[in-house]
Amino acid sequence: MKPKDSLKVLIVGTGYVGLTTGLSLAYLGHQVYCIDNNKTVVDKLNAGITTIYESGIKELMQESKKNIIFSDEIVKYLPNSDVIVIAVGTPSKNNGDCDLSYVEAVAEEIGNNLNGEKIPVIVNKSTVPVGSSRRVEAVVRSRLEQRGIDMDVLVASNPEFLREGVALNDTLYPDRIVVGADDVRAINLLRQMYAPILEQTFTPPKVIPRPDGFELPAFVTTSATSAELIKYSANAFLAMKISFINEIAGLAERVGADIQEVSRGIGLDKRIGQRFLGAGAGWGGSCFPKDTQAILHTGFQYGYEMPLIKSTIEVNQRQRLCMVEKLQSLLKVIRGSTIGVLGLSFKPDTDDLRDSPSIDIIHRLLDMGARVKAYDPVAMENCRKEYPNLEVEYVDSVSALVNGCDAIALITDWKEFSYINWDEAANQMRQKIVIDGRNMLQREELENLGFNYRGVGR
Ligand code: UDX
Repeated sequence: MKPKDSLKVLIVGTGYVGLTTGLSLAYLGHQVYCIDNNKTVVDKLNAGITTIYESGIKELMQESKKNIIFSDEIVKYLPNSDVIVIAVGTPSKNNGDCDLSYVEAVAEEIGNNLNGEKIPVIVNKSTVPVGSSRRVEAVVRSRLEQRGIDMDVLVASNPEFLREGVALNDTLYPDRIVVGADDVRAINLLRQMYAPILEQTFTPPKVIPRPDGFELPAFVTTSATSAELIKYSANAFLAMKISFINEIAGLAERVGADIQEVSRGIGLDKRIGQRFLGAGAGWGGSCFPKDTQAILHTGFQYGYEMPLIKSTIEVNQRQRLCMVEKLQSLLKVIRGSTIGVLGLSFKPDTDDLRDSPSIDIIHRLLDMGARVKAYDPVAMENCRKEYPNLEVEYVDSVSALVNGCDAIALITDWKEFSYINWDEAANQMRQKIVIDGRNMLQREELENLGFNYRGVGR
């Protein structure tokens, strides 16, 4: 990037979104200030210690370090920034609505510290309900007015679509970049910020290579409100696609079809597409559960029913419990059985447990009186911390897990689970029962070894 194109970008919040965005922009040549009010997190990041589990993050931190500063002093960097990105958490409230207090607190800080010399673009990257850009603008404006500062306030909604585990890949090689703003100055500045990604002019980091056949991303400019709705609708649609295939999987089991054949058969229709048609134990994570609830709540606030979204959530809940039903139908009595759970995180390549199907399934099994053992390649430490009262016996390998079990339930599709030595496992287990909640094991191999195998929709 030519130095004249380089921008000063302040990012508030160093969670998944803030940190991956900050590291990527710094790698592209912008000067980035990543702000977090948690001093421990800032100290760790400054010492080069990563605070999230993400593929390629350590290497990118090393390669970007000359362009990035981690700090808890927002005031020091704010007035001189060209772009201010709000990437703080928006936790769910009990009613499904989003808690915007962190976003509003940042907006207040912005309004308290801009001095009118520079007009930055304020970017909402946190997932926020429709109307939040306006709310941010109003808060900033009101603070500025109180301080007697007369300046334009430019706010843009710029949702992220990154998947955990491959967040840096998704940031550097997106399908599209959506910018919703009502002022063309905001759109132009963000186009400049994203130019290296839009034109793919950067040399790819070694650890995050450009995907083969990657096509230049679209730059989609919309109103702020449309951008906010795009984010929620995209996640709701993907969640719906998975719930759809899970619902069909239940029917496939009853009529004797194979859901993987069905998925392929329908996914090859370009209008449908193959991705996110993997039947399994259901979806979880930090986005789908929260965003489906939030869009439902928005509908409710506007007096509008959204039966598709409602069913998407209900089918997902049922899907998790289907795993327990399958175990029960084979074991007959769950109480007193020892069940080994493979995988705790909501999906592979992350240690994130937020709304993970595994945790729900484990709770249900414990309620029914089972003894539960669990193994996960990276998420066990988090699980111990986040669920200190979960009565699970954690073991440090698959072979320690299978030992003495009546049944195994594979819930997260970690790659290493496809290399399990089932021949050995057969000798260590009390009963040979396997529930494959991600359809990733070789059914025939297991059945030849005498296992009672149940996949999803097969
Ligand atoms: C998702 C969106 O993909 C991303 O665009 C958005 O910004 C954040 O939410 P993420 O939550 O990281 O990303 O995970 P994703 O890979 O989308 O998987 C979500 C859940 O769906 C996981 O629990 C996964 O196991 C499940 N899933 C996914 C399926 O059950 N079947 C599939 O075919 C795909």
